[in-house]
Amino acid sequence: MSARPGVLVARAVFDDVVDRLRVHFDVETNPSDTPFSKAELIARLQGKRGALTTGSERIDAEVLGANPQLRVVSNIAVGYNNFDVAACDTHGVLATNTPDVLTETTADFGFALMMATARRIAESEHFLRRGEWNKWSLTMFAGADVHGATLGILGMGRIGQAIARRGAHGFGMKVIYHNRSRLDATTESALNARYVGKAELLQQADHLVLVLPYSAESHHAVGAAELALMKPTATLTNIARGGIVDDAALAQALAAGRIAAAGLDVYEGEPAVNPALLSVPNVVLTPHIASATIATRRAMANLAADNLIAGLGFGPDAGRPPTPINPGVLPLRP
Ligand code: DGY
Repeated sequence: MSARPGVLVARAVFDDVVDRLRVHFDVETNPSDTPFSKAELIARLQGKRGALTTGSERIDAEVLGANPQLRVVSNIAVGYNNFDVAACDTHGVLATNTPDVLTETTADFGFALMMATARRIAESEHFLRRGEWNKWSLTMFAGADVHGATLGILGMGRIGQAIARRGAHGFGMKVIYHNRSRLDATTESALNARYVGKAELLQQADHLVLVLPYSAESHHAVGAAELALMKPTATLTNIARGGIVDDAALAQALAAGRIAAAGLDVYEGEPAVNPALLSVPNVVLTPHIASATIATRRAMANLAADNLIAGLGFGPDAGRPPTPINPGVLPLRP
């Protein structure tokens, strides 16, 4: 092994960010940007002390057990359901993510997707592109108002709160939310948001936005039973994670007009998309791009690099990575 620690950059990342890693490490990159299979990931990690990963790389007990020299896995994402954090703890591996730097950008997108869904922007654009527009008419693609409507937010972390601010202060929406823990009274009043039970949230929301983390508990948090509680005029927007919504049940609800429309940025088993969703018109589909502005993706990559550098004991913050998920493993084993 060379004197400099080796790290794997599992997906294509900005050159200048990789150059920052090269100051300290021997860096193996993946210029083709093809996601590694499990076996390839295990093989590429051999001898590496750290890895820069994305949601596509699953770091679990098998990967960690096959790479006992690994010390830091740094995700370029705020969500980290691709990490088995308990296994990282067991193996003494530091896991890190990229919160905060993407909050406002992701909230912008969530709001945009909710508006596109409510105002039928994608559906009407497809109609126009198909050459079917031959006259203006009073109710053509008439959707639902966003201003003044009831915005329901499931999951009220940083991004949920940023969406609430846009709704309450920019669009005069009535904001209701449900979350594992209730916000303090000062934050609730600043956001003009009211805490409700999950059933009330589903029943009252005109536009429901999902912003909760994916876990065994949140798997299919919105399925047929929950969709049945929603207003037939309501919209559902998911910018959280695939698997939180039962995509098959949602496609059925959309086809049956059980709810008015949906906006989805994330899918069960993505990048595959349930074919039933592709054939219903009243859904806006985007390919997991909620945090995708150049500035934010650069900030995420740089924060992930900061975590990897500091986590492996280099740079001005050596040993103090800025955003650890499991700081209990610090200081790391030699
Ligand atoms: C995140 O940061 O979690 C985004 O969904 C990108 O994976």
